Amino acid sequence: MPDRNDALALLHEWVETEGLRKHMYAVEAAVRFYARKMGADEEVWGLAGLLHDLDWEKHPDVHPMEGVEALKRGGYPEEVIHAVLSHRPEYTGVEPETDLDRVLYACDEISGLIHAACLMRPNGIDDIKPKSVVKKLKDKAFAAGVDREQVARGIELIGLDRSEHIQNVIEGMREAGEVLGIRGEDLQKD
Ligand SMILES: [Fe+2]
Ligand SMILES: [Fe+2]
Repeated sequence: MPDRNDALALLHEWVETEGLRKHMYAVEAAVRFYARKMGADEEVWGLAGLLHDLDWEKHPDVHPMEGVEALKRGGYPEEVIHAVLSHRPEYTGVEPETDLDRVLYACDEISGLIHAACLMRPNGIDDIKPKSVVKKLKDKAFAAGVDREQVARGIELIGLDRSEHIQNVIEGMREAGEVLGIRGEDLQKD
């Protein structure tokens, strides 16, 4: 099975935009948090988070199908491929079915909102609370690219209270706070 270094090399080959790379690191961190919480294989789940948007920059029109082909060529596990397919069921026809599928779907859009909310705060990810994320979620003009319907569907899929899910994603993302540039010490630098 390819490891995280292989996955990072693949990501760097396909994705040049810093923003998209960070999005993939953020989703990876959130999915890894859930893997630990649920006793799943963190390395496998992490690969799905890290690579789910592999082709978004180069082939947005057929996303995620080109990425899936690259994962198949690379010998990635079937459950990773299924999760990547099911994070866009409207394009692939593959619905989220497994725990990993549901977690990936549920972490994808909300992580973008949390990232944007962190950038507005002096202490970033250090002390952000679900309550302020929910407030931003309700403000449709804030981070307008974050699809609120997908956020709602993800919460429904994961079957947790909205605040609990947001808290989990925050805790996961906090572990990647440095690479995401959303710690207080990063934000207060400039
Ligand atoms: Fe995607
Ligand atoms: Fe994504």
